[in-house]
Amino acid sequence: MLVGVGVATSGFVLFERARGRDDGRAQRRLVLKLGHGLDTGHPVHEAMQFLADRLAEKSAGGMVIEIFPNGQLGSETECIEQVQRGALAMTKSSTAPLEGFVPEMAVVGIPYLFRDGEHLWRVLEGPIGRGLLRAGEGQGLRGLCYYDAGSRSFYTIDRPVLSPDDLSGLKIRVQPSRTALETVEALGGSPTPIPFGELYTALAQRLVDGAENNPPSVLTSRHAEVCKHYALDEHSAVPDVLLIGTRAWEALSPIQRRWLQEAADESVAYQRELWARATAEALAEIERQGVTIHRPDRSLFASRVEPMHREYLGTAVGDLIEQIKQAE
Ligand code: GCU
Repeated sequence: MLVGVGVATSGFVLFERARGRDDGRAQRRLVLKLGHGLDTGHPVHEAMQFLADRLAEKSAGGMVIEIFPNGQLGSETECIEQVQRGALAMTKSSTAPLEGFVPEMAVVGIPYLFRDGEHLWRVLEGPIGRGLLRAGEGQGLRGLCYYDAGSRSFYTIDRPVLSPDDLSGLKIRVQPSRTALETVEALGGSPTPIPFGELYTALAQRLVDGAENNPPSVLTSRHAEVCKHYALDEHSAVPDVLLIGTRAWEALSPIQRRWLQEAADESVAYQRELWARATAEALAEIERQGVTIHRPDRSLFASRVEPMHREYLGTAVGDLIEQIKQAE
């Protein structure tokens, strides 16, 4: 049994194990709290559970990740702020709200910038992606890895979005992110930022006409109970990022850091395998729940957001955009 006699200061807590060892000696465990907004049936949650299990094995129980899912500790933005302050050790966030803390992250939110999943992952796993994981260090945020969040498409309560013209007059929930907001605006809809955890109620009360997300998130959030059309225009592919506060990271010993990074890397491989299957299964289940799946012509959407590419070329991420476009 754990008795929290220790201590501590923050999201990383040293507990003494007061009982539970035959020799009666106290064993210290490092507990890292990780808060996120997804359901426990979501493949990204499963990957973080895998990470926690691998870390416990590597450290022979000396390091424990305690996961708080479903937005129990707040929205993504609130969790990022807690990680910055050291009140929470770790969080998992979409890159979209992270843009507000690490401006360079905006580059991954530019719609239709990546040609396909392979292009996206070559960039994320290469020097650009690795650089972006480190770009928040000055803000107290260290990225450990990316998880696949597929691509995002519009789902709506009453009528499908088969072309950008269909978005006219529709209030669409977006993530709290400038690129997400500008994307829906460029396509002709009215963007409404709402935290993910509040979206089910917002849809049920018709405060918005629809939203956009990947299939596993639409399914596990139960939004398909309300929205009966899902149009796969795949306008963006913002991934998820696993973050640790730089203070928590610096409090770890070199071997603890190595175990954590290795466990994170292993969880990435595990999640990438899960993702493809989870997406196909989620789509089939969403359809079974009475949602019509539409496959609109993506080029209608892509051409409407082209001006965004030009605008962002003139910003601090302009060079990154050029490099990404040229990447094989
Ligand atoms: C995805 C993503 C989450 C994010 C959510 C959202 O599910 O994985 O991190 O919170 O989209 O739309 O807010």
